[in-house]
Amino acid sequence: MIDHRPRVHLRPVAGWTNDPIGPVHWAGRTHLFHQVNPDGGYWDRPHWGHVSSDDLVRWRRHPLALSPDPDPDAADADGCFSGCVVVDGDEAVLVYTGVNGPAGPGQTQASCLARSREPELERWTKDPANPVTVAPRGHDLTGFRDPFVWREDGRWWQLVGTGSAERGGAAWLFSSDDLTTWSDEGPALDAATLVTRDGLQTWTGSMWECPALVRTPQGDALILSVHDGVTTHHPIAVLGTFTGGRFVGRRIQRLDLGPDVYAPCLYTAPDGRLIIWGWSWEATTVARQRTQGWAGMLTLPRELTIDADRVAVRPIEEFTGLRGDELSVERLATPGGWLTGAEVARAGNVVDLEVALGPAAEVVSLRLCRAPDLQEYTTLEVDRHRGELWLDRAASSLDPDAGVGRVGGAIHPSPGRELRLRIVIDRSIVEVFVDDRISLTARIYPTRADSTGIEVVGSPTAVADVELQAWNLDSIWSAS
Ligand code: FRU
Repeated sequence: MIDHRPRVHLRPVAGWTNDPIGPVHWAGRTHLFHQVNPDGGYWDRPHWGHVSSDDLVRWRRHPLALSPDPDPDAADADGCFSGCVVVDGDEAVLVYTGVNGPAGPGQTQASCLARSREPELERWTKDPANPVTVAPRGHDLTGFRDPFVWREDGRWWQLVGTGSAERGGAAWLFSSDDLTTWSDEGPALDAATLVTRDGLQTWTGSMWECPALVRTPQGDALILSVHDGVTTHHPIAVLGTFTGGRFVGRRIQRLDLGPDVYAPCLYTAPDGRLIIWGWSWEATTVARQRTQGWAGMLTLPRELTIDADRVAVRPIEEFTGLRGDELSVERLATPGGWLTGAEVARAGNVVDLEVALGPAAEVVSLRLCRAPDLQEYTTLEVDRHRGELWLDRAASSLDPDAGVGRVGGAIHPSPGRELRLRIVIDRSIVEVFVDDRISLTARIYPTRADSTGIEVVGSPTAVADVELQAWNLDSIWSAS
């Protein structure tokens, strides 16, 4: 059986993981946390897992940072849901969602605090005053979770993800002088007041999870994850302006064109760069995830910028530090185009590709993770004429439990210019970046050890104008 566990994507050794959370720079290292169920490959009673790095490339695993309280009356008896970490003087303060009670109307979700002063951030002391922020009454809110805290104008601000069946998703704002006592400032934004510049209402579910406020000189954005009360959907960015405690939205953008990414969290690096990680779930059955004993990973760290009223993402520069020697790309003719030679194939399914499509390569497909007899392959179609990118998983896997379907959308190519694709394949995840702007994340599950070829398919003039470079990638784990 092929091992689908990634080599360059963060995840715990075993068990379930979902949202990345709480990135913080502390004592010279970047610490990142994530939702985890250490007991198996299924979601249950979330804990906070913990990793850290001194270069954002190689990572170390730490023990669990936070676990649900054994006291059944505690605010977090049934889960330490998502949140963030802020630095307050000489203390790191973890702001998380404490959950009490089984899922349903009687359950409470409320913001709680835990503090640490340790260089390694391995021991956290929960605040006896927990919970510090509870859901405002009288609004029939469907959930109240994932606090995002920042400091501005001498005060602490907290946005909490929430929503109601009537008004849709909302990001509710609170303010505080001391992180403990919070005043209700009302919704910074809710779906009912979110009318985009062209007057269109875009469907954004009935609950927003994991809000994060992006502030840049080029404009502001609210990153939200769309939930409809039953199902998790996809992350969006609302571009607009945050002022006077209200977010005025101008346009809504899907943050990723793929089906398998959710709940991105935001990190402001010491050099000012904005970096996000997302959660990439499995595209297999729940039963399969339980049997294999693990599920979920975090996406690559992506630098986020706002450019021309759009959010752009690309892998952080440092990621190239994992590259081994460049692989030689020998072109072998196929009926549809050309196939890379043995060296790229030998790199297996952990490979970093740069593909340059010249002006003649207007419509081209790449068959990734391709078996020599075409029993398995994943198609990536670039159509610059229509301005679209699509990923098709119809033939990705012989496993009937693996996700299928064609996903993609508009890529807004610049006419007449070269188009650049960056493709990172890591066993069961494919992350595609178009011109350092647009991402597409999908999970695939090749079953054969020889499903490793890369074929370029198109008209003879189109495929002749495609350049491909490839590198294999070292593991991200420095001490395990
Ligand atoms: C998003 C989410 C959050 C919640 C966490 C629980 O994926 O549902 O809203 O805090 O996961 O694990």
